[in-house]
This record gives sequence, C-alpha cells and structure tokens, in this order.
Amino acid sequence: MTIFGIPIFPDQASTFARDVDMLYFFILAVTSFFALAVAVSVIYFGLRYHRTHEGEIGARIEGSLPLELLWSVIPTIIAMFMFGWGATVYYHLRRPPDEAMQIYAVGKQWMWKFQHPEGQREINELHIPVGRPIKITISSEDVLHSLYFPAFRTKMDAIPGRYTELWFEADTPGSYHIFCSEYCGTNHSGMIGTVTVMEAAEYQAWLQGGGEGGTLSQRGARLFENLACNSCHLESGRGRGPSLKDIVGSTVDLEGGSSVTVDDAYLRESILNSQAKIVKGFTPLMPTFQGLISEENLVALIEHVKSLSPAQKGQEEIVKK
Ligand code: CUA
Repeated sequence: MTIFGIPIFPDQASTFARDVDMLYFFILAVTSFFALAVAVSVIYFGLRYHRTHEGEIGARIEGSLPLELLWSVIPTIIAMFMFGWGATVYYHLRRPPDEAMQIYAVGKQWMWKFQHPEGQREINELHIPVGRPIKITISSEDVLHSLYFPAFRTKMDAIPGRYTELWFEADTPGSYHIFCSEYCGTNHSGMIGTVTVMEAAEYQAWLQGGGEGGTLSQRGARLFENLACNSCHLESGRGRGPSLKDIVGSTVDLEGGSSVTVDDAYLRESILNSQAKIVKGFTPLMPTFQGLISEENLVALIEHVKSLSPAQKGQEEIVKK
C-alpha cells in the first residue's frame, strides 16, 4: 500500500496476510473511534461547561445505572469480539498444516542461514515455491533473534538451545523482505535478507541448480558415520545405544519411569545433552555433543534420523512428490 508514492504498508503476499490486516484495521478503527469520541467530548464539555464567574458550583450528579450498564456492556461485547477474532487468526497462524514443506533457519549475529531438505543452503536468501505451505523450524547459534516476514505477516523468535517454528503459504510470486525483529547487537538492523517466492516449475529448476553435498538427510547420514553415532546406534537394536529406526513420532519409555514422544526437540536434547533422558534399558554411555556440532549439522542429523522413520512420512517422501 502506498500513499503519495510512499510505501506505508508491506505487500500482502501470504494466505493470511489479509486476515491479519483486516483484524489490525478493525482494531485500529475501533480504538480511533473511541479515542476521538473521548477527546472531542473532553474538549466540548470543557468549553460548554467551564466556570464563567467566581464561586460557581457545578450540579451534583449521583450516577445513572442504565448509563453505567451501557458503557460496561458495549465495550465488553466489542472486546470479546476482538478476542474471538484475534484467537481465530492466531490459531491459524500458529498451526502448520501436516503437509507443510520443511525448511530450517538458523539465526546468527548477523545473518539468517536457511537449509532446504533437498540440500540447498542459503544465507540471507530464501527461495520458496508459491502456493505451498512452508514450515520453518528456527534455532539460534548465539543470542535471541526473531525471524520476520512482513509480507507474510508472521514472525517467530529464534531462541538459543530450542526449536521454534512458524509457517505460511505465500500466494504471490515476488521478492520480499526478511528482517530480524529482535534487537541482537550492533548490526541487528543489518540482519536482513530477501525471500523469493517462485512459481512451482521455476522453483523445481532452482532446486536442480545447487545443493552440493547431497540432501540434508544425506549430509546427516555422513555426519552419523563421521561422529561414530553408527557404532552404538545399530539398527538391530543390539548396540550400546537404542536403534533409531522408526522412532520419530513414537513414545519411548525412559529410565526412571517416565516417557517421551520422539520429536525434533527430544532428538536435539539427546544429541546435545545426552544424559538428560536415558531410554529404558540402556546405560548413560553417550558423550555430549554440546559445542561440538553446529546448529546446521544438528538439523542435518535430525533429518537423517527422521529418514529412518519412513512410516512417519518424513521429508524425503514429501520431497519426491
Ligand atoms: Cu538478529 Cu536482531
């Protein structure tokens, strides 16, 4: 949106950009209306009823039940309407559809690094296809950042030591801003990039163009050997560590009686803080990989483990479609 040629509002380029904007403008209109109504009344009453001579005393007003009910009930209805509407939009924004395409993002002072499951790696650039839901799993290598796509009306914090996620479906091809929207140091304002939304065929062509070192899970498989993970995590289950076959999405029992569902967060913890949750029947032999493995390699390893659980409809399968 531009006024006198000056862009005052980002493009609307995702399926929920309009929903977010409608809600935003509705709230803006309601609050402007009441701010104006209050300001005008204050000025009007100030002029109309100001004291005109010494010793003048105002009339005593005891209150009015109908009036008080009116100014309680009407704002409550308006506020609940905003709440309901806001919650609907928020839930939509926070729940990636199951079939979403997976991309990994790592924030680092001061750049955004992206990894596609097909193996492409980008810095401050992200190429995505139009009309497909995309889920981005986000981590940080150092401090808090926030991955922000103004044109898609979505953002999410990048938190060191944790995975967060956001999703969107871009619906208009073009190039749009990527920002960091959390102050993260001197060059925070320079932590920017470009997301390029491409037609499906164009995106396929782009995918063919790169990805040295194979797909993300192939890179993970090589790391799995290089780090000697495969010497304990035998597929037969008779190794010193549990078999990793078909574990993603399942629930495993732990030493101490509790259990855990195997997801990105659990895999991450088990690699970096290997003593935290020991699978029942195994001894805590595994060394910690904290500080020895980068965030990017970590997601490659996790993709590899996911590829060992084909029933979970891992990325490989979606990629092939
Ligand atoms: Cu990264 Cu601000």
